Amino acid sequence: MKTVKKAIIPAAGLGTRFLPATKAMPKEMLPIVDKPTIQYIVEEAIESGIEDIIIVTGKGKRAIEDHFDNNFELEDNLVKKEKFELLEKVKQPSKVDIHYIRQKEPKGLGHAVWCARKFIGDEPFAVLLGDDIVQAEKPCLKQLMDQFDETQSSVIGVQQVPDEETHRYGIIDPLTIEGRRYQVSNFVEKPEQGTAPSNLAIMGRYILTPEIFGFLDRQETGAGGEIQLTDAIQKLNEIQNVYAYDFEGKRYDVGEKLGFVKTTVDMALENEEIKEELYKYLAKKIKEQKMTV
Ligand code: UTP
Repeated sequence: MKTVKKAIIPAAGLGTRFLPATKAMPKEMLPIVDKPTIQYIVEEAIESGIEDIIIVTGKGKRAIEDHFDNNFELEDNLVKKEKFELLEKVKQPSKVDIHYIRQKEPKGLGHAVWCARKFIGDEPFAVLLGDDIVQAEKPCLKQLMDQFDETQSSVIGVQQVPDEETHRYGIIDPLTIEGRRYQVSNFVEKPEQGTAPSNLAIMGRYILTPEIFGFLDRQETGAGGEIQLTDAIQKLNEIQNVYAYDFEGKRYDVGEKLGFVKTTVDMALENEEIKEELYKYLAKKIKEQKMTV
């Protein structure tokens, strides 16, 4: 029986929706309260039992490598000041090996995944995107890995989205349903408004078999002129089962501005250090707003 031990985190995109913040800083390093988004993703992979992570980086993404490296000067300084709690927070995760590969040009998500093919070899693997942070009792990726253990097939994480948002996502056309797992007839990338075959949207968590690389090798461009992972998944589904799994948990869209701010507010309201003051501040703001409208 095969198991999933390796994960790819593509982080080579331009992050244009967050310009100018992302001109010199990777989008994946934007902090949610006090932790960069990519760290939430790495932590989910570790909690799910992943042993090796490869981060696909690109131009201007050095800060990601520095973040997951040891910083002896900083650690030494924190020891001297006896700030042991902070020391724990800045230490490199020890339960996983993190590797890097560069995507020379941001040709799309499918291309970013393809760049990691030699590292993956002939094994099933996970892909986690930093645009989606999921808070769940059982980590989202672990839920998909359990499905893989059962089916030995590719599994794609999905959740329901409202009608007016389907054109922003990869959408599945479900065939049959068993519990939370779907057999899928079609995977469609960003369908035009009003044409989506369902409301089940692909949410940035994938378990894929290595046969996907055979389709990504062809480097065919799709929606937005990019090499789309969803198009290769659609082709993979024609030669072997690819399931979709409606995972449990609250998903945050941190890939766009409003989603990012909502995530920050929610996470800040869970942070012991600041939650009370923030709550008072928000309540005051709402009261003021009501007075002016
Ligand atoms: P997005 O399309 O959301 O990221 O890709 P983006 O292109 O950086 O963002 P915008 O649209 O310009 O604001 C989802 C994930 O795939 C990675 C991104 O870094 C992001 O984590 N990606 C995307 C790559 O690694 N390479 C690419 O060529 C495209």
